[in-house]
Amino acid sequence: MLSLLPVQKDERLLVGSETFDDAGVYKLDESTALIQTVDFFTPIVDDPYLFGQIAAANSLSDIYAMGGKPLTAMNIVAFPAKTLDIKILGEILKGGFDKIQEAGALMLGGHSVEDNEPKYGLSVTGIVHPDKVKTNAGSRVGDKLILTKPLGTGIISTALKGELIGDEEAREAVALMAELNAGAAQAAQDFNVSACTDITGFGLLGHMYEMACAGKIGFHLDYSQIPFLKRVKELAEEGMVPGGAYRNRDYLKTCVEIKDSISELEALLLYDPQTSGGLLLSVSTEEAENLLRALREKGVRADIIGEAVNNPGKVIVS
Ligand code: CO
Ligand code: CO
Ligand code: CO
Repeated sequence: MLSLLPVQKDERLLVGSETFDDAGVYKLDESTALIQTVDFFTPIVDDPYLFGQIAAANSLSDIYAMGGKPLTAMNIVAFPAKTLDIKILGEILKGGFDKIQEAGALMLGGHSVEDNEPKYGLSVTGIVHPDKVKTNAGSRVGDKLILTKPLGTGIISTALKGELIGDEEAREAVALMAELNAGAAQAAQDFNVSACTDITGFGLLGHMYEMACAGKIGFHLDYSQIPFLKRVKELAEEGMVPGGAYRNRDYLKTCVEIKDSISELEALLLYDPQTSGGLLLSVSTEEAENLLRALREKGVRADIIGEAVNNPGKVIVS
């Protein structure tokens, strides 16, 4: 719907809303640009403290995806104070606060409204050098693509809601969603990363498509190299695929080509909407192995999953 609004032009506006990037970027002076982003959603786990952590990690991620450092954050809260114990809100806020602290940012307050369903997230402000802004655009033919978290959190969350798995089995996914992309972003800073985004609701293929369009380039994805969380395929077989995955697939049908050797179900996993997913980094072949090593040294579960090819706006999976 944003495309219906007039486009604003200003030489200080480095990244606006038209490139589907993770945050807006505004140049303050020759050495500093401001990054601003906002994100919030309804609970995806029962534990309010964990939910707070996940929502905050997800909001902070958009600053990391732009190559920046978060400075300040504000809470966005919707809460049914008349029907739910207010202590639950306290736990959500504590989870968020702990992630803001971990990110080295400051919590400046926020705003809350009464609502039937709880919602939580952050608006985050960060900074980046104007020449170091990373966006969806910039990937070069031959670049390798590195993904920094395994896929499948949408399917695991659906299975958790459907009570097909318990908290214990979801632990790996929940920990992953609460994990900041700070380490990945930090490792990436020492390399010539040409494009970057984080993987969220649009799924791996959706975000790759955005990167392909923004960079007027195409991608080849090697299915065998794509990391998935444990049990994801099996749970998908049992029908635990969120509606968003089907919507993503529908939306992307003209730009994604999946080779016949990959089953429909296997393909569906690539459209799974991710909550607080990893970064997708485009980097030259020469630097890819070193970046991979640097990421893994920081404890990041990174993998090379594909490469950029000369096929603008298309993603091919084989
Ligand atoms: Co994002
Ligand atoms: Co976002
Ligand atoms: Co993005």
